Amino acid sequence: MASKRWFSLLKKAAIGVAAATALAGLAGPAVAAQPPSTNGTQVIGGSRAASGEFPWMVRLSMGCGGALYTSQIVLTAAHCVDRTGSNSSITATLGVVDLQSASAKKVKSTYVYRSPTYDTTGGDWALIKLASPVTGIATLPVASSTANNSGTFTIAGWGAASEGGAQQRYLLKAQVPFVSDATCKAQGGDYTGLIASAEICAGNIDSGGVDTCQGDSGGPMFRRDNTNAWVQVGITSWGTGCARAHAPGVYTEVSSFASAIASAASSI
Ligand code: ARG
Repeated sequence: MASKRWFSLLKKAAIGVAAATALAGLAGPAVAAQPPSTNGTQVIGGSRAASGEFPWMVRLSMGCGGALYTSQIVLTAAHCVDRTGSNSSITATLGVVDLQSASAKKVKSTYVYRSPTYDTTGGDWALIKLASPVTGIATLPVASSTANNSGTFTIAGWGAASEGGAQQRYLLKAQVPFVSDATCKAQGGDYTGLIASAEICAGNIDSGGVDTCQGDSGGPMFRRDNTNAWVQVGITSWGTGCARAHAPGVYTEVSSFASAIASAASSI
């Protein structure tokens, strides 16, 4: 059962990469330029993020998202990277909502740390070290307790705005409600394999319509804490299709890995 799930994850990741590659292959305005409206229809079911609204959002060249964890480290999903070790093949784009903006900061990777538990007990997270620190871009703190693992979350990314759709030029955002582990598991299919301690679900169970999708993986799911500060509670990981009813998005439960992430970050 587990192997079926990992296989389906790989398929989903491959689709995301293929879409990103197709996007990168088109020079210039790869995605039909959208009018500069703040009211798109998309992540799925969301709208355009304003410039500077979520400064920590990172686009990674393999077709994933990420969040700036320190000035030189990006937190993303394990399924977005191959393995732990030196890696200069990834380009991070930071500081913009428009990936084609002339003011985008582009920084290469030097090292990847992939969660050592991902293939066994779960933990879809990875760190990417950048060649140099970025200045003037706020980081997103990760949740170190379960206090914020409920309520309404913000999701964001440059991934598909519809199931099977194209990668996006402009950052999209949306809001999704928390879904309990019990409800998430009860949806059946791949959801029966939910790893409750490592994964947190979100979405409109009965109606769908709002979700992350292929290419959003690795990006953060976040909310404001009781001091009104933003805190990262999830990392976009997987789902059955996108925005379907009875198929919530599944996110890495960041609070379960906060100390492992911190110690890995200080070791790279
Ligand atoms: N695995 C996907 C990726 O690589 C993310 C899928 C999220 N799916 C969802 N229905 N929330 O981009």
